Amino acid sequence: PRVALLFGGRSGEHAVSASTAAGVLGAIDRDRYDVVPVGITRAGRWVVAEDRAERWQITDGRLPEVTSDDGAEVVLSLTSGEGTLRVLEPGQVPSLLGAVDVVFPLLHGPFGEDGTVQGLLELADVRYVGAGVLASAVGMDKHFMKLVLAGHGLPVGPYEVIRPHEWVADPAGCVARVERLGLPLFVKPARAGSSLGITRVDDLADLPAAVETAREHDPKVVVEAGIEGREIECAVLGGRAGAPARASLPGEIAVDGTHAFYDFEAKYLDEAHVQLDCPAKLPDAVVDTIRDLAVRTFEAVEAEGLSRVDVFVTPDEQVIVNEINTMPGFTPFSMYPRMWEASGVSYPELVDELIQLALE
Ligand code: DAL
Ligand code: MG
Repeated sequence: PRVALLFGGRSGEHAVSASTAAGVLGAIDRDRYDVVPVGITRAGRWVVAEDRAERWQITDGRLPEVTSDDGAEVVLSLTSGEGTLRVLEPGQVPSLLGAVDVVFPLLHGPFGEDGTVQGLLELADVRYVGAGVLASAVGMDKHFMKLVLAGHGLPVGPYEVIRPHEWVADPAGCVARVERLGLPLFVKPARAGSSLGITRVDDLADLPAAVETAREHDPKVVVEAGIEGREIECAVLGGRAGAPARASLPGEIAVDGTHAFYDFEAKYLDEAHVQLDCPAKLPDAVVDTIRDLAVRTFEAVEAEGLSRVDVFVTPDEQVIVNEINTMPGFTPFSMYPRMWEASGVSYPELVDELIQLALE
């Protein structure tokens, strides 16, 4: 089969996506699949990329990027040299999609993980890996995600939503409304990823600045009560032929005091101060609860293919669902593949399984 890998894109997680693509390009079985790598620039221009995987790594704290000028020639600014790409005119995108059997949208965040690309792929009538339009959109919007999870009886933490007009009309009222959540607070853009635009607030006086920071990413803001607990993640993989989805062994994120939380810097640029523990050291009963909640979360939003469910485990061993990511970070070093590795599924097997699920 011909597989198009989409990466880069119009979100703040552009570089993360390019790194994810590097991992998949390095692992996909070339004897089995004819691979067409397609980069999307920050401006949304589609380019058919050279597929030299080593060009797309995060190395030495520098992030990869798909760039394009307006001419016919596109240059990649990368960590190791430059390569020439073929630019697609917007009208050529449908014919590209028509010429492949399946698309793997390795895109994170808005315009990639939020249902928009999925809608394009539905219109083009091409199969694709991962969640559909609705699940992607719900998974991207932390407000609607919480409504859906709570509606299914899943445990979510206390939160408030600050809608665009509310902040403009009455910021003091918004501050008063979130007071009930206590401190610390986590102030988040409703639709972003990789912790972009998120601020930890330990003093209500800092709330307005935190809301403004979040609003740079999304005019709708979600304010969450800080939850004391361990940060645990669990990988979910869709089942074949109607079989239920299954959950991996959980992994744990441990961030030292250098970072106020597991922020963008800690996620991608500072390996020294972050420890990914996989499998997480937890009592068996807690592991079972996490895996059960992860699958139920996957099913609640009607995700497909893959998702990573992030939870908190409180000191009294309650499990609270923080969020679902329908296109989690997917480099070989990311938590999602590592959790499957620890559960007996290798990275190349995972790539293959996801494509086969989409082709089913
Ligand atoms: N949004 C990032 C890629 C993640 O969830 O891993
Ligand atoms: Mg998370």
